[in-house]
Amino acid sequence: MNATPTPSFSREPSARPTAPDARAALLANPGFGKVFTDHMVTIRWTEGTGWHDARVRAREPIALDPAAAVLHYGQEIFEGLKAYRTGNGVSLFRPEQNARRFAASADRLAIPTLPENLFLQAIDELVRIDADWIPGGDGSLYLRPFTFASEAFLGVRPSAEYLFMVIACPVGAYFKGGKKAVSVWLSDDYTRAAPGGTGAAKCGGNYAASLIAQAQAMKHGCDQVVFLDAAEHRWVEELGGMNIFFVFDDGSLLTPPLGGSILPGITRDSIITLARREGRTVREELYGIEQWRADAASGRLREAFACGTAAVVSPIGEIKSAHGDFVIGGGEGGPVTDAIKARLVGIQRGEIADTEGWVRKVAGL
Ligand code: PLP
Ligand code: COI
Repeated sequence: MNATPTPSFSREPSARPTAPDARAALLANPGFGKVFTDHMVTIRWTEGTGWHDARVRAREPIALDPAAAVLHYGQEIFEGLKAYRTGNGVSLFRPEQNARRFAASADRLAIPTLPENLFLQAIDELVRIDADWIPGGDGSLYLRPFTFASEAFLGVRPSAEYLFMVIACPVGAYFKGGKKAVSVWLSDDYTRAAPGGTGAAKCGGNYAASLIAQAQAMKHGCDQVVFLDAAEHRWVEELGGMNIFFVFDDGSLLTPPLGGSILPGITRDSIITLARREGRTVREELYGIEQWRADAASGRLREAFACGTAAVVSPIGEIKSAHGDFVIGGGEGGPVTDAIKARLVGIQRGEIADTEGWVRKVAGL
């Protein structure tokens, strides 16, 4: 679908960048997804021309025709990755995996594929121009690449025009107050994704479908929602925005298999690799809700955690549901979760040797 040569970027720095003291105040406590940098990347796609007009420019609202297809049929995909301030510059964690997943999501949503090198270049361009926005300490710069259907046309078919963008926000912890363990609402009336659907793609529609269950979770005092499979309402799949792992009394791990209805998380894949390297058994197997309850009650299940770019590794302490609540271990996480988190974060932040070749330095920083 894309036969054009890689376009070169025009760089148009903001004429009104945030003043250093105002930026410092914002960086002091950025939260998640509320504070944005001064710039953005835009690249257009039109039928016949392919990807063109690549720009790094001041962040500003975009004009969209009210008939733009994304507003009606939701043809949109996105990614999420972080840039870290490391001792000797700025690094990204496995960004080529995000580029690859973005291409897979594009295929599923009938969106033209952005060449992986252009995806990576767009990220680098934005990180370089907004480098002053990368927090130190525990913070990072969350990057949000996305593509949406911009053609003004109400017929139902893939759009003939798209806009790819990258925006960035300095972030701290995803969960408010940097909680020790999060609580999860088990949704047994709503499902997130079905076989043959879009669960394995990172598209806005999956999140739209999850919001009513997330609202229920919040109503019940929970941080996140956990979904079961659509066919049997029995097998644990994933959370609204994170994958899930279980830790057993023999030190082994289990995570649901990638069956097409859950997102193939890059954090999930990294944890499987790291845990196996240190000799742990990791099973990618179906895990039923009744078994989960029984294992939590018997103590066979010691820990559970959520993982993802935004959430990093977050212990799950309590499960609430319409059919009764239960607690995992002491409800506060545990040593295996802590050790896995420390190893992963240490690699991401350049504090532990990157034995897998996962960390990519941003050139020029
Ligand atoms: N599952 C869902 C639904 C997500 O939104 C995310 C976050 O991106 C993940 C899993 C974890 O994916 P990753 O580790 O690649 O961030
Ligand atoms: C991410 O971790 O990048 C996500 O997209 C998940 C979302 C909860 C912010």
